Amino acid sequence: MSRRLPIDFRTAVVYQIYPRSFCDSNGDGIGDLPGITARLDHLQALGVNVVWLSPIYASPQDDNGYDISDYRAIAPEFGTLADFDTMLAAMHQRGIRLMMDLVVNHSSDEHPWFQQARSSRDNPFHDHYIWREPRRGADGERQPPTNWEAAFNGSVWEWNEPTGEYYLHMFSRKQPDLNWENPRLRGEVYDIMRFWLDRGVDGFRMDVINMISKPWRDDGSLPDAPVVRPGFLQPGFAQSCNGPRLHEFLAEMRREVLDLYPGCITVGEAPLATVEEGRALTHPDTGALNMLFQFEHMDLDSVGGHVSGKWALKPLNLRDMKRTMQRWQDALDGQGWNSLYLSNHDQPRPVSRFGDDSPEHRVASAKMLGTWLHGFQGTPYVYQGEELGMRNVAFDRVEDYQDIEIRNYWRTAVLERGEDPATVLRSIHAKGRDNARTPMPWQAEAPHAGFTCGTPWLPLNGDWPQVNAQTALHDPDSVFHHYRRLIALRQQHPILAMGQTTLLLPEHTAIYAVLREWQNQHWVIVTNWSSAVHEVPFPSEWTTRPAQLVLGNLSARRGLGDERHRGPTEIKLSDLQLQPWEGLIVSLG
Ligand code: GLC
Ligand code: CA
Repeated sequence: MSRRLPIDFRTAVVYQIYPRSFCDSNGDGIGDLPGITARLDHLQALGVNVVWLSPIYASPQDDNGYDISDYRAIAPEFGTLADFDTMLAAMHQRGIRLMMDLVVNHSSDEHPWFQQARSSRDNPFHDHYIWREPRRGADGERQPPTNWEAAFNGSVWEWNEPTGEYYLHMFSRKQPDLNWENPRLRGEVYDIMRFWLDRGVDGFRMDVINMISKPWRDDGSLPDAPVVRPGFLQPGFAQSCNGPRLHEFLAEMRREVLDLYPGCITVGEAPLATVEEGRALTHPDTGALNMLFQFEHMDLDSVGGHVSGKWALKPLNLRDMKRTMQRWQDALDGQGWNSLYLSNHDQPRPVSRFGDDSPEHRVASAKMLGTWLHGFQGTPYVYQGEELGMRNVAFDRVEDYQDIEIRNYWRTAVLERGEDPATVLRSIHAKGRDNARTPMPWQAEAPHAGFTCGTPWLPLNGDWPQVNAQTALHDPDSVFHHYRRLIALRQQHPILAMGQTTLLLPEHTAIYAVLREWQNQHWVIVTNWSSAVHEVPFPSEWTTRPAQLVLGNLSARRGLGDERHRGPTEIKLSDLQLQPWEGLIVSLG
C-alpha cells in the first residue's frame, strides 16, 4: 500500500484524467491505466498536485464507466488491480495524490445487487433500489409514477416485469438509482470507500452527490415536476437534487469513513446547488465535503439554463458570468470552499465555448481563460487537454459520436420530435460531451498523435498536428507553459488561493477584472474576453498606486511569472489597454 500524502486541498491544483481518452498502451484504441502511468511526466511538468480519475471500475460502459457493475474491480479494458497499484505508487512517488470517482447515486443494472433486486420483491437486495407501483391513467392503463424526464431522455421510470414495478433511473435505463434510505446500502457504500482508501487513494470526487436523497412525500410517493412544456415528460432534475436527508447521509459518511482518514480530499458534484447548499456542504467545520462543483456558470449560455437543458444555445453575456462567479466567491469566503472549473468530461472545450478558437486567437484566449480561472479563490481543476488549448470537434455525421447523451438527444429531438437536424447538430457541435472526450494528442506524429497505435474509440480532433503535448512542451509561449506558470504562481503566493475577491467594473461587457486581497497584499486580475482592443477604465483609487506585472499571457508584455524575465516590470493601470484576449495578473504596491 502506498502512503497517503499530507495536503492542503485549498492550495492544490487538480488535474482530471478521463482514462478512456488519455493514453492507450496496448493498441486496442482505448486509454488505460498503464497508459496513464507512462504519461505521468506530463503531469509532473505541469506541476499539478492531485489527479481526479474518472471511473475505471468494472462497467458495461453504457455511460463510459459512470455505470458500475463492480465497485472493487477494474474494467478489463483499463487494466488490472496490479496496474492500478503501480499507477498509484508512481503518482505518489511524484508527489501527486489520487482522487477516485465515486459513483453511488446509481449503479449499473448489471451490478449483482440489481440483478438480485429485480428478481423478486422479497429478494434481500430489492430495497437497494427505488421501486414504485404504476399510476393508472383514466382508462386504467399503466403510467410511470411521476412525469420526470431522465437526464439522457425518456422517463426516469423503467418497468420491471418480474416484480410488477417501475424502478427509478435519473440517468440511463442502465443506471438504476440506489436507495440511500436503506441503511444496508449506505453501509455497502462506506465499505467500498474504505476499500479504496485502505489501498492508498487520497480521496473522492463524488458523482451527482446531492441527488442521493430523494424528495419523498410522507406517503412514500414522489412529487410530479411542474409542467413547463407540452407532453407528459417534464424536466425532473430540480425535483431530485438537494433532498431532505442529504446532509444527514453525508454527515454519516463523514463519521463512518472520511474522518477516519485524515487528509482525505473530497469534492462533490452538485447540479442545481444554491450558494446556501454549497456553504452547508463545504463549511470548514460542519460541511461533509472539502469543496463542490456547482453548475451555475455552466448554464449561462443556454436558454432557460439547467431547467430546459443545455441544447438551446445562447451567447454568453459576460455580466452574467461576473454576477454568478461573484455570488459564489462571496458566499463561500471563509464559510466553504469553491472548486474552480471551466471544463471537464461533460462540458465542451472552454476555448471554443468562451474564447476564440481561430488560429489567430486560440492560444491567447486559452491562456486568458486559464489566467481568469486561476485568479479566483478556490481550488482550480484542469481537465486533460485544457492545458493544450484543445478545441471542440464538429463531426458531420451523428454516427461518429459515441456519447449516450448525444445519441439519445438526437433520437428524441430529430426522430421523435421532428426538430430540424441541422439545428440539433449545431447544438451537438457546441455542447456535446464528446468535444471533451476526443483522445489526447501526445505528439505531432502519426499514428493518432501517439494516443494509440490501433483505431481510437473516438476520432481525434483533426488539429492534432498543431495542438499536441510535444509541440506545446517545446514552445515556451504555449498554453501548457502558461498553465505551468499559473500553477507555480499559486504555490508561491497564497493570495491566489486564499485572498478575498472583489469584482471591479461589474457592468463592462468585455473586460473582467477582480481585486484579490490577502494579509495587506493587493492583486488585480484583469482579462479581455473579446477579439478587440479595450481600454480598462479602472477606478482612480487603484490607478494611482504603483503596480507590477506578475504574469501576462502575451509575449509582448512579460512578467515575473515568466522565468525568462527576472525582476519587476512596472505597469501603469491609469492608461491600461488590453490586447485581444489579453489577461494580466498585477500586484499593487
Ligand atoms: C455526472 C458525470 C457524468 C455522468 C452522470 C451520471 O454528471 O459527470 O459524466 O453521465 O453523472 O453518472
Ligand atoms: Ca488500451
